[in-house]
Amino acid sequence: MKMADVLSARRDLWEAGAAMRSWHEDLFRHSLVTADLAAAAARTLGFPEREAELARLGGFLHDFGKVTWPRELVSKYPLTEEDWQIIRMHPIVGARLVRERVPDVSWVVLRVIEEHHERDGDGYPRGKRAGDLHPLSRVVACVECFTALLEGRPYRLESAGGGAPAEQFLAAGFERELVEAVRKVASENGLGRGRSTFSIQS
Ligand SMILES: [Fe+2]
Repeated sequence: MKMADVLSARRDLWEAGAAMRSWHEDLFRHSLVTADLAAAAARTLGFPEREAELARLGGFLHDFGKVTWPRELVSKYPLTEEDWQIIRMHPIVGARLVRERVPDVSWVVLRVIEEHHERDGDGYPRGKRAGDLHPLSRVVACVECFTALLEGRPYRLESAGGGAPAEQFLAAGFERELVEAVRKVASENGLGRGRSTFSIQS
């Protein structure tokens, strides 16, 4: 089952998706792609099916906090310190909003949302160490990093230091096994270098 199918069966998630879509079409598409790649990557890494589905949900909702951003932040460059403060808070804001809007959401999904920009001490919002993160947060973070690089968001490329996606992943502190799993499932879904737009495989 793809995230788009899950949405048609869950009114609360459909409404969350609609909120992201009305904020920006690209946010909605990014969320769908991240969701399905995260589930596929989790499965490839050996997570049980139930956890792969939590990765899908966490992948879909990870950036929900962006619905509170001013829209111009999407393409703004360079960013001010005030902009960065808003950006750094979106994992916390997103988890809070999702807890309100998706009443039976798993704590794992909330944790994935809160931790999707944590790396190994140099991420945000809390600067947690990699070993303190939920394993599914690492999966979603790596997938999200991959899809964001493909989308070419200026602040992402800047923070990742430039270069080819694989090198940027490794520079961002993701384990090689995780990087390889994400690249594999992305390739299987027709995503990779040279692609700047996404399509959802049925
Ligand atoms: Fe994010």
